[in-house]
Amino acid sequence: MEQQGMKEAAGRAAVDTLVQSGMKLGLGTGSTAIHAIRRVGELLAQGALSGISAFATSFQSEIECERLGIPFYPLNSRELSGCLDLTIDGADEVDPQNRLIKGGGGALLIEKITAYASAVYAITVDESKIVGSLGTGFPVPVEVIPAARVSAGKALEALGAAVTLREAVRKVGPVITEHGNLILDIRFTKPIDPSIMENEINHIPGVVENGLFTRKHPVVYIARSDGTIEVRGKK
Ligand code: A5P
Repeated sequence: MEQQGMKEAAGRAAVDTLVQSGMKLGLGTGSTAIHAIRRVGELLAQGALSGISAFATSFQSEIECERLGIPFYPLNSRELSGCLDLTIDGADEVDPQNRLIKGGGGALLIEKITAYASAVYAITVDESKIVGSLGTGFPVPVEVIPAARVSAGKALEALGAAVTLREAVRKVGPVITEHGNLILDIRFTKPIDPSIMENEINHIPGVVENGLFTRKHPVVYIARSDGTIEVRGKK
């Protein structure tokens, strides 16, 4: 099975086994999470699901909800009141303890808030996202306020990381997040302890959030090229 097929299989499997009518549902961002959103839309259209109140973690996810007629609300709204039954999202890397790197799509801040606001947190990935350790392959995104671009960058270098300002595509200049901030992508040359590093990065003045997700333990749906789905972790 090709990578696109695996992404779709993982997203559909998570929805089919976890989503129930009446749920307050967090919908993630990216090329894997979009398949979960589409499956929710399909089940609603078939009448197999009803009463879903969704929260979309990005502009991309909102547009897909609009297109499919999935009712979505702000996380602070009366409908959701800041808590969700379940969130289904993607990830950039998953380690053997189900710790994650997220934020390849730049939505790490809202994605982390959503993860912690969810009773059940599900991650859907294809097998290429499974790694032995985090931080030396896919870069860890760090969202910083614009005034801290240089000072936070130096502090991240002092932690042993190579730092790159994320540049926009088809626009000159940096990526500006939905919250008006910048993203520094950092890559470590030596293995890190992700749990310690998540805290250390967030202690740097001007850092808003980083893409290491080590404390909210997800159930992970891994789609394999042989067509099977492995489920790791508890609901
Ligand atoms: C978005 O900010 C990310 O956290 C995505 O969930 C992550 O980058 C995985 O995206 P893909 O499923 O597109 O690889």
